Amino acid sequence: MVRIAVFVSGGGTNLQALIDAQKAGKIVNGEIVLVVSSKAEAYALRRAEKAGIKSQVVSRKAFDTADDFNDALLKVLQDEKIDLVVLAGFMSILGGNILSAYKNKIINVHPSLIPSFCGDGFYGLRVHQAALDYGVKVTGATVHFVNEITDGGKIILQKAVDILPDDTPETLQKRVMEQAEWQILPQAVSMFCQGLI
Ligand code: GAR
Repeated sequence: MVRIAVFVSGGGTNLQALIDAQKAGKIVNGEIVLVVSSKAEAYALRRAEKAGIKSQVVSRKAFDTADDFNDALLKVLQDEKIDLVVLAGFMSILGGNILSAYKNKIINVHPSLIPSFCGDGFYGLRVHQAALDYGVKVTGATVHFVNEITDGGKIILQKAVDILPDDTPETLQKRVMEQAEWQILPQAVSMFCQGLI
């Protein structure tokens, strides 16, 4: 069984999609055993508690350097014998030893069709605002491996979503989540756990 840690920072709807998929038997050969939040107040922690999943807060602010933060995260993963890390709305950038120790074992969901609207500074609603500002008619979501380039790792799955004329960043975010993120993230996790990637 692949031991999965999910990293979160906010509402945790992608974490919920993973929990629901697990309950429905759709995460084949994998189990979410740990949720790590970069924010103590993240609602995602309540979702973990409700689902009976162990959680921990590791805040960037608690460490002097980025290296110390990354090393602390790595220790948490090693203590729990984690095989796969899923970034589900995790708003800190990973770097250092954790990336080499978990090479091709960290995946992220990003709310656009990479390589559009991605990289440093593109997160959450900002991504959807940028897509609307540009005037693209189709956007979507991407699940990809994490490496040292922000949103630059190998793509695993993508799904396109139409942009509607009266969309706001909020309505677009909701549709991208419903039609893309909540589907392709559990799907990619299950594929990883079965050794299909
Ligand atoms: C999601 O849309 C996720 O793709 C995005 O933040 C949101 C988190 O929502 N992640 C990024 O922008 C990372 N670059 P959630 O907490 O409800 O899952």
